[in-house]
Amino acid sequence: MIQTEIYQLIAFLLRNIGGSLGIALRNSFYRFAGAKIGKNVIIRENVIIYRPYNLELKDGAEIGFGTVISAVEKIRLGKEAAIGPYCAIYDNNHKMPKVSGDGGLITKPVEIKDFAWVGTHSIILKGVTIGSNATVGAGSVVMTDVPDNSVVVGNPARIIKQNAPKKEDVK
Ligand SMILES: CC(C)(COP(=O)(O)OP(=O)(O)OC[C@H]1O[C@@H](n2cnc3c(N)ncnc32)[C@H](O)[C@@H]1OP(=O)(O)O)[C@@H](O)C(=O)NCCC(=O)NCCS
Repeated sequence: MIQTEIYQLIAFLLRNIGGSLGIALRNSFYRFAGAKIGKNVIIRENVIIYRPYNLELKDGAEIGFGTVISAVEKIRLGKEAAIGPYCAIYDNNHKMPKVSGDGGLITKPVEIKDFAWVGTHSIILKGVTIGSNATVGAGSVVMTDVPDNSVVVGNPARIIKQNAPKKEDVK
Protein backbone atom coordinates (compact mmCIF):
# COMPACT_ATOMS: atom_id res chain seq x y z
CA MET A 1 0.00 0.00 0.00
CA ILE A 2 1.42 3.44 -0.87
CA GLN A 3 0.77 6.85 0.65
CA THR A 4 -2.50 8.40 -0.46
CA GLU A 5 -0.90 11.58 -1.84
CA ILE A 6 1.69 9.69 -3.90
CA TYR A 7 -1.02 7.33 -5.12
CA GLN A 8 -3.21 10.25 -6.20
CA LEU A 9 -0.32 12.00 -7.98
CA ILE A 10 0.74 8.93 -9.98
CA ALA A 11 -2.88 8.04 -10.75
CA PHE A 12 -3.37 11.59 -12.05
CA LEU A 13 -0.26 11.37 -14.27
CA LEU A 14 -1.34 8.02 -15.77
CA ARG A 15 -5.04 8.79 -16.09
CA ASN A 16 -5.01 10.40 -19.51
CA ILE A 17 -2.49 8.24 -21.38
CA GLY A 18 -4.25 6.67 -24.36
CA GLY A 19 -4.02 3.32 -26.11
CA SER A 20 -2.37 0.10 -25.04
CA LEU A 21 0.52 1.92 -23.31
CA GLY A 22 -1.89 3.70 -20.97
CA ILE A 23 -3.76 0.46 -20.26
CA ALA A 24 -0.53 -1.42 -19.47
CA LEU A 25 0.84 1.36 -17.24
CA ARG A 26 -2.42 1.71 -15.31
CA ASN A 27 -2.74 -2.06 -14.80
CA SER A 28 0.80 -2.23 -13.41
CA PHE A 29 0.28 0.80 -11.19
CA TYR A 30 -3.05 -0.34 -9.76
CA ARG A 31 -1.58 -3.80 -9.08
CA PHE A 32 1.28 -2.12 -7.23
CA ALA A 33 -1.30 -0.11 -5.28
CA GLY A 34 -2.96 -3.34 -4.13
CA ALA A 35 -5.73 -4.00 -6.66
CA LYS A 36 -6.20 -7.59 -7.81
CA ILE A 37 -6.10 -7.30 -11.59
CA GLY A 38 -6.38 -10.34 -13.90
CA LYS A 39 -5.23 -10.81 -17.47
CA ASN A 40 -6.40 -8.55 -20.33
CA VAL A 41 -8.10 -6.09 -18.01
CA ILE A 42 -8.82 -2.67 -19.55
CA ILE A 43 -9.05 0.48 -17.46
CA ARG A 44 -9.81 3.30 -19.91
CA GLU A 45 -8.75 6.93 -19.61
CA ASN A 46 -9.90 9.23 -16.82
CA VAL A 47 -11.13 6.47 -14.53
CA ILE A 48 -10.87 7.43 -10.85
CA ILE A 49 -10.39 4.65 -8.30
CA TYR A 50 -10.56 5.29 -4.56
CA ARG A 51 -8.86 2.60 -2.43
CA PRO A 52 -7.64 0.29 -5.20
CA TYR A 53 -6.61 -2.32 -2.60
CA ASN A 54 -10.33 -3.13 -2.19
CA LEU A 55 -10.87 -3.65 -5.93
CA GLU A 56 -10.73 -6.95 -7.81
CA LEU A 57 -10.99 -7.17 -11.61
CA LYS A 58 -11.11 -10.65 -13.13
CA ASP A 59 -9.69 -11.56 -16.55
CA GLY A 60 -10.99 -9.41 -19.40
CA ALA A 61 -12.97 -7.00 -17.20
CA GLU A 62 -13.25 -3.46 -18.61
CA ILE A 63 -13.93 -0.07 -17.02
CA GLY A 64 -15.07 2.68 -19.40
CA PHE A 65 -13.82 6.27 -19.73
CA GLY A 66 -14.46 8.60 -16.83
CA THR A 67 -15.96 6.05 -14.45
CA VAL A 68 -15.58 6.58 -10.70
CA ILE A 69 -15.08 3.58 -8.41
CA SER A 70 -15.15 4.05 -4.65
CA ALA A 71 -14.17 0.79 -2.94
CA VAL A 72 -14.17 1.30 0.81
CA GLU A 73 -14.97 -2.37 1.54
CA LYS A 74 -14.91 -4.50 -1.65
CA ILE A 75 -15.83 -4.09 -5.31
CA ARG A 76 -15.40 -7.07 -7.60
CA LEU A 77 -15.87 -7.33 -11.37
CA GLY A 78 -16.13 -10.83 -12.83
CA LYS A 79 -14.65 -12.23 -16.00
CA GLU A 80 -15.29 -9.94 -19.00
CA ALA A 81 -17.68 -7.78 -17.01
CA ALA A 82 -17.90 -4.38 -18.76
CA ILE A 83 -18.64 -0.98 -17.24
CA GLY A 84 -19.59 1.70 -19.78
CA PRO A 85 -18.28 5.27 -19.83
CA TYR A 86 -19.05 7.72 -17.02
CA CYS A 87 -20.54 5.26 -14.54
CA ALA A 88 -20.25 5.48 -10.76
CA ILE A 89 -19.85 2.43 -8.51
CA TYR A 90 -19.97 3.01 -4.75
CA ASP A 91 -19.85 0.37 -2.03
CA ASN A 92 -20.51 3.03 0.62
CA ASN A 93 -22.90 5.68 1.90
CA HIS A 94 -22.35 8.49 4.34
CA LYS A 95 -24.18 7.89 7.59
CA MET A 96 -27.08 10.29 7.83
CA PRO A 97 -26.87 12.96 9.00
CA LYS A 98 -23.39 13.16 7.44
CA VAL A 99 -20.44 13.45 9.81
CA SER A 100 -17.02 14.75 8.79
CA GLY A 101 -14.32 12.40 7.48
CA ASP A 102 -14.56 8.72 6.63
CA GLY A 103 -15.61 7.64 10.12
CA GLY A 104 -19.20 8.01 9.14
CA LEU A 105 -19.34 5.59 6.22
CA ILE A 106 -21.63 2.59 5.91
CA THR A 107 -20.28 -0.04 3.51
CA LYS A 108 -21.46 -3.22 1.79
CA PRO A 109 -19.58 -5.01 -1.03
CA VAL A 110 -20.58 -4.68 -4.68
CA GLU A 111 -20.20 -7.54 -7.13
CA ILE A 112 -20.67 -7.38 -10.90
CA LYS A 113 -20.52 -10.94 -12.15
CA ASP A 114 -19.05 -12.55 -15.27
CA PHE A 115 -20.14 -11.10 -18.65
CA ALA A 116 -22.44 -8.47 -17.10
CA TRP A 117 -22.60 -5.14 -18.98
CA VAL A 118 -23.37 -1.82 -17.31
CA GLY A 119 -24.49 0.90 -19.75
CA THR A 120 -23.06 4.40 -19.80
CA HIS A 121 -23.87 6.91 -17.03
CA SER A 122 -25.26 4.24 -14.70
CA ILE A 123 -24.88 4.33 -10.92
CA ILE A 124 -24.38 1.16 -8.88
CA LEU A 125 -24.95 1.55 -5.15
CA LYS A 126 -23.62 -0.29 -2.12
CA GLY A 127 -24.49 -3.92 -1.51
CA VAL A 128 -25.64 -4.61 -5.07
CA THR A 129 -24.86 -7.83 -6.93
CA ILE A 130 -25.36 -7.70 -10.69
CA GLY A 131 -25.83 -11.23 -12.00
CA SER A 132 -23.77 -12.91 -14.69
CA ASN A 133 -24.66 -12.00 -18.28
CA ALA A 134 -27.04 -9.27 -17.03
CA THR A 135 -27.40 -5.86 -18.74
CA VAL A 136 -27.94 -2.52 -17.03
CA GLY A 137 -29.40 0.09 -19.42
CA ALA A 138 -27.81 3.50 -19.89
CA GLY A 139 -28.52 5.96 -17.12
CA SER A 140 -29.85 3.43 -14.62
CA VAL A 141 -29.59 3.69 -10.85
CA VAL A 142 -29.18 0.18 -9.43
CA MET A 143 -30.12 -0.14 -5.77
CA THR A 144 -31.08 -3.83 -5.55
CA ASP A 145 -29.64 -7.09 -6.89
CA VAL A 146 -30.03 -7.87 -10.59
CA PRO A 147 -30.63 -11.58 -11.36
CA ASP A 148 -28.43 -13.46 -13.85
CA ASN A 149 -29.34 -12.81 -17.52
CA SER A 150 -31.74 -9.94 -16.68
CA VAL A 151 -31.96 -6.59 -18.48
CA VAL A 152 -32.75 -3.70 -16.11
CA VAL A 153 -33.31 0.00 -16.85
CA GLY A 154 -34.34 3.18 -15.05
CA ASN A 155 -34.19 4.83 -11.66
CA PRO A 156 -34.64 2.72 -9.64
CA ALA A 157 -33.60 -0.01 -12.09
CA ARG A 158 -36.32 -2.55 -12.91
CA ILE A 159 -36.27 -5.74 -14.99
CA ILE A 160 -37.61 -5.27 -18.53
CA LYS A 161 -36.47 -8.48 -20.22
CA GLN A 162 -34.04 -11.40 -20.18
CA ASN A 163 -30.82 -11.93 -22.11
CA ALA A 164 -30.27 -15.28 -23.78
CA PRO A 165 -28.16 -17.31 -21.34
CA LYS A 166 -24.46 -17.73 -22.20
CA LYS A 167 -23.52 -21.11 -23.54
CA GLU A 168 -20.19 -21.03 -21.67
CA ASP A 169 -19.89 -22.01 -18.06
CA VAL A 170 -20.09 -18.57 -16.38
CA LYS A 171 -19.30 -19.67 -12.82
C1 LIG B 1 -30.87 -1.52 -22.07
C2 LIG B 1 -30.60 -1.64 -23.57
C3 LIG B 1 -29.42 -2.56 -23.83
C4 LIG B 1 -31.88 -2.28 -24.13
O1 LIG B 1 -31.81 -2.33 -25.51
P1 LIG B 1 -32.98 -3.12 -26.32
O2 LIG B 1 -32.98 -4.55 -25.86
O3 LIG B 1 -32.79 -2.85 -27.75
O4 LIG B 1 -34.31 -2.48 -25.67
P2 LIG B 1 -35.44 -1.63 -26.40
O5 LIG B 1 -34.83 -0.48 -27.14
O6 LIG B 1 -36.28 -2.61 -27.16
O7 LIG B 1 -36.25 -1.04 -25.16
C5 LIG B 1 -37.14 -1.82 -24.38
C6 LIG B 1 -37.88 -0.89 -23.45
O8 LIG B 1 -36.98 -0.40 -22.45
C7 LIG B 1 -36.88 1.03 -22.52
N1 LIG B 1 -35.47 1.36 -22.35
C8 LIG B 1 -34.42 0.87 -23.06
N2 LIG B 1 -33.27 1.36 -22.59
C9 LIG B 1 -33.60 2.17 -21.58
C10 LIG B 1 -32.82 2.96 -20.71
N3 LIG B 1 -31.48 2.98 -20.81
N4 LIG B 1 -33.45 3.67 -19.75
C11 LIG B 1 -34.79 3.64 -19.65
N5 LIG B 1 -35.58 2.90 -20.44
C12 LIG B 1 -34.99 2.19 -21.40
C13 LIG B 1 -37.40 1.40 -23.90
O9 LIG B 1 -37.91 2.70 -23.90
C14 LIG B 1 -38.45 0.35 -24.12
O10 LIG B 1 -39.59 0.71 -23.41
P3 LIG B 1 -41.07 0.37 -23.96
O11 LIG B 1 -41.14 -1.14 -24.03
O12 LIG B 1 -41.98 0.98 -22.94
O13 LIG B 1 -41.16 1.01 -25.32
C15 LIG B 1 -30.30 -0.27 -24.26
O14 LIG B 1 -31.47 0.52 -24.35
C16 LIG B 1 -29.25 0.53 -23.48
O15 LIG B 1 -29.51 1.27 -22.53
N6 LIG B 1 -27.99 0.33 -23.90
C17 LIG B 1 -26.82 0.93 -23.27
C18 LIG B 1 -25.95 1.61 -24.33
C19 LIG B 1 -24.63 2.03 -23.77
O16 LIG B 1 -24.50 2.37 -22.61
N7 LIG B 1 -23.60 2.00 -24.59
C20 LIG B 1 -22.25 2.28 -24.13
C21 LIG B 1 -21.36 1.16 -24.54
S1 LIG B 1 -20.41 0.52 -23.22
